[in-house]
Amino acid sequence: MITETTPTTRDCVSKGFLPTRRPALVLEKKQLDDGVFSLAVQDSYMATHARAGQFANLYLRDLSRMLPRPMGVASVHGDAVQFIFAVVGEGTQQLSGLQSGDHVDILGPLGKGFDIREGKHYLLAGGGLGVPPLIRAAQEIQSIAGAHTTAIFGYRRNHFADSIVAEYSERTLSIDESEGNVIDLLDRWESDATAAGESTDVEILSCGPNAMMKAVAQWAREHGIASQLSLEARMGCGYGTCVVCVTPTVDGLKKVCLDGPVFTAQQLGW
Ligand SMILES: Cc1cc2nc3c(=O)[nH]c(=O)nc-3n(C[C@H](O)[C@H](O)[C@H](O)COP(=O)(O)OP(=O)(O)OC[C@H]3O[C@@H](n4cnc5c(N)ncnc54)[C@H](O)[C@@H]3O)c2cc1C
Ligand code: FES
Repeated sequence: MITETTPTTRDCVSKGFLPTRRPALVLEKKQLDDGVFSLAVQDSYMATHARAGQFANLYLRDLSRMLPRPMGVASVHGDAVQFIFAVVGEGTQQLSGLQSGDHVDILGPLGKGFDIREGKHYLLAGGGLGVPPLIRAAQEIQSIAGAHTTAIFGYRRNHFADSIVAEYSERTLSIDESEGNVIDLLDRWESDATAAGESTDVEILSCGPNAMMKAVAQWAREHGIASQLSLEARMGCGYGTCVVCVTPTVDGLKKVCLDGPVFTAQQLGW
């Protein structure tokens, strides 16, 4: 059964429904930075149902590489779904060769996304190629009553996503490795907000390297702020059958693809 809010892979499986792998038309491929690409594909099911923090499996045409490459949804426009990815190995190299008019097999939306509520101020703390799901979070939050966002992005070099997230986020603070890191930006945000007499009653949504997210979770805990973290894990199937992606939580081992990728800091014991 397809509903307006089909939210997680687990919900789909419990309802006896998982959207099938299907070919999606490539609408546009753009280079955003050295080795970083944006890929827009046409898929009305994904566009309707994908929530921030959920991901899609992208399959390669090269049958010697059968495992899919998981990619977070970066934005949705009509029935177009945008992914932003870095070339790190052969699979992403092949994806970077796609051109408009090609087709790529996709499956999704998969996993459990961020829990986003009305009336909240969210800090989007992202590092490197962790920023795409946070762009989608900014886009989603823009249409939620009374909710708003501040993007806090750390890059290795070029600030390639600032202009994209600025379309949706009220404020963007960003930094590259030569200047500092995401924790420096969180400190700067807090002292600016305190100096301006603004509320520091916020929640953090974070995605990036696990070491960065552990530091973000610790910063949040020390400041009495709740955080949700989208974990990076090696994946096989992407929908709960191969058990490649398990991670320890306070409730035992959980599958990142099915129970996550988004977990609260409390669930992770971070
Ligand atoms: C939920 C989720 C969302 C992601 N979203 C993005 C995104 O928006 N943008 C982006 O650039 N990257 C994202 N990644 C990482 C991306 O999936 C990997 O960089 C990619 O799979 C690497 O494939 P490769 O063939 O180029 O590299 P290789 O290292 O050659 O891959 C070999 C195998 O390992 C798997 N693998 C390697 N690295 C990862 C990884 N970090 N996570 C999961 N599987 C991996 C591959 O799927 C493949 O099966 C995401 C990962 C996850 C788990
Ligand atoms: S990737 Fe197969 S169970 Fe999670």
